[in-house]
Amino acid sequence: MEGKPIVLVTGAAKRIGRAIALVLHQSGYRVAIHYGTSEKDARATAEECGSAPIFQADLEKVDEIKRMFREVEQQLGSLYGLVNNAARFRRRDAFEITEADWDFIHSINLKATFFCCQQGALLMKKTGAGRIVNLSSLGGIRPWDMYAHYCASKAGVIMLTRALAKAFAPEITVNSVAPGVILASDQDPRAQELIAATPAKRSGTPEEIADAVLYFLNASNFVTGQVLAIDGGLSQR
Ligand SMILES: NC(=O)c1ccc[n+]([C@@H]2O[C@H](COP(=O)([O-])OP(=O)(O)OC[C@H]3O[C@@H](n4cnc5c(N)ncnc54)[C@H](OP(=O)(O)O)[C@@H]3O)[C@@H](O)[C@H]2O)c1
Repeated sequence: MEGKPIVLVTGAAKRIGRAIALVLHQSGYRVAIHYGTSEKDARATAEECGSAPIFQADLEKVDEIKRMFREVEQQLGSLYGLVNNAARFRRRDAFEITEADWDFIHSINLKATFFCCQQGALLMKKTGAGRIVNLSSLGGIRPWDMYAHYCASKAGVIMLTRALAKAFAPEITVNSVAPGVILASDQDPRAQELIAATPAKRSGTPEEIADAVLYFLNASNFVTGQVLAIDGGLSQR
């Protein structure tokens, strides 16, 4: 176990974050599992990842982000990779979005992503190499009328990725994976409309997102500031 590069995945208890943790574990990384509230699922994911270390933090609070990275350093000694997967998603009519709605989305999707990048990069600098992968969204590339605040936050993640790729070069790369429709279930009728509009004619899988994250973690420092849409071609329409 010792000697494997360590990668912290935020929001890794369930869904896409869990798939990312599993694929990285199976690909030779030592994963560290972050969760906010899903402790039971986080423990299950950690078990599946070879008794991976677990870190809890409410990413709304910058102090908790800083504490988490201090704990990572104390417990694990170093950090090679960071996958900023944790996020929030909420449908809202643009005429009705309140300040609280705006902050609910932006405090996690954009602000926490930035401070995790900052704190992760400070740790990575100590070993002279690092890889950061930010999960953005097709909604950061194409506008969705009922998700204006979410789209703005994910477009922010894309520009943050590009700016930090310059700020953290040459040791640390910063890239982004932009998922299209990744269904956990077929419950959402709107998802069926999006699938019908997707050239691949299907939903993507969490494992397909994880494979894209793995690509950026494995890539040399000549791959940085890039956004890879994994969306069945939907962003081309
Ligand atoms: N699913 C899709 O179709 C899709 C499409 C485009 C983009 N994406 C992006 O892909 C990533 C993963 O998607 P997903 O659908 O799997 O995500 P998700 O289930 O909506 O959220 C992932 C995790 O984020 C964590 N989180 C949220 N607020 C937090 C807070 N205040 N503190 C700590 N953790 C917090 C939660 O952890 P706990 O449960 O432990 O609280 C949650 O399980 C996200 O960045 C998402 O925006 C997904």
